[in-house]
Amino acid sequence: MKKSIRDVEVTGKRVLVRVDFNVPLDPRTNEIMDDSRIIAALPTIWYLIQHEAKIILCSHLGRPDGKVVESLRLTPIAERLSQLTNLPIYTVSDCIGAKVKKAVSKLKNGDILLLENLRFHPEEEANDPNFAKALADLADIYVDDAFGTAHRAHASTYGVAKFLPAYAGILLEKEIKALGNLLNNAQHPFAVLLGGAKVSDKIKLINNMMDKVEMLLVGGGMAATFLKAQNYGVGISSVEEDKMDLANKLVETAKQHNIKLLLPLDVIVADAINDQARPSIAPVTMVPPNKYIVDIGPQTIELFTESLKQCRTIFWNGPMGVYEIPQFSRGTKAMAELLANLSATTVVGGGSTAEIVIDMHLGFKMTHVSTGGGASLSFLEGKSLPGVDVLLDE
Ligand code: 3PG
Repeated sequence: MKKSIRDVEVTGKRVLVRVDFNVPLDPRTNEIMDDSRIIAALPTIWYLIQHEAKIILCSHLGRPDGKVVESLRLTPIAERLSQLTNLPIYTVSDCIGAKVKKAVSKLKNGDILLLENLRFHPEEEANDPNFAKALADLADIYVDDAFGTAHRAHASTYGVAKFLPAYAGILLEKEIKALGNLLNNAQHPFAVLLGGAKVSDKIKLINNMMDKVEMLLVGGGMAATFLKAQNYGVGISSVEEDKMDLANKLVETAKQHNIKLLLPLDVIVADAINDQARPSIAPVTMVPPNKYIVDIGPQTIELFTESLKQCRTIFWNGPMGVYEIPQFSRGTKAMAELLANLSATTVVGGGSTAEIVIDMHLGFKMTHVSTGGGASLSFLEGKSLPGVDVLLDE
């Protein structure tokens, strides 16, 4: 266990809080398309306001590659945070240097300053110690609440903690608890529902979860690799040929562990992947050679539904089909609605799966929706997260 923000006196102290405000922006208008990561950081921000700390928030946004990119300034985020808190959010045009120091020196207890995008400096991703020290020099205490970036050993997520006493924020704690419970404390039966394009993205997770679950349900693009490995035709769907042996091995290992590994019984197929395409249903034994698999079919939805209803814990990561195209989004929507209405513990992985659940206004009906895409996968793969490791132990 790591020390938390509640374990330290913050009143009157300058507290540097690493948040993950890496939110999707509309490429045309630069407007925030999903503010859930900003909302998720509010408990820590409110805690610090109530305890009269001087709050210095810092984050990256996008991948500007060490250069100033005007469209990746944190200005829209400051505006949204100000709307959400109904408080002024002070900003500054850099994240280190004399003008930042000056802005910090003007902070009164309970004030909030948002620094400019950390990744405008190449030293951030390089975990440069001088840059980390310059960030640390702004504050008395460091709090990491950026779970989504905890798998990165960057200056603001890792290096800085070598120079300041480092504590977990409320969101970081909540994420580690929810995901940690899946690994160590899940109620059984426990199922993992996986989708998304590639088997290769999920192999380590599957291997790490094999001895923890009773069921593994596979949909999405990655199901095509499993189906082809099991000698079914998959039409012109893209398949990871070099992962077919591995897919078969996973099927075998599941059998040995007495785990129910469920693949689609039927699928939705179409001759193109666009919103003009007309979908049809095909059993997996009869996928037409000139079509793509674009979603799971109704029989599969039923099979997955009946199976998941028996479970007390479910972790879901990855869409069941091409969710962005409405006629191919049924399977994914059915799974989201199902999980939202079960009394089981339901944990949704970050990234695109979280976006879908939030887009459907179902986030509040899940036990936990992770704010970390890569970070939640790394954690469930059993890897340690540098941004967590570096914090003070209890
Ligand atoms: C994310 O969106 O997964 C995090 O903010 C990390 O971003 P990165 O993949 O650019 O490091």
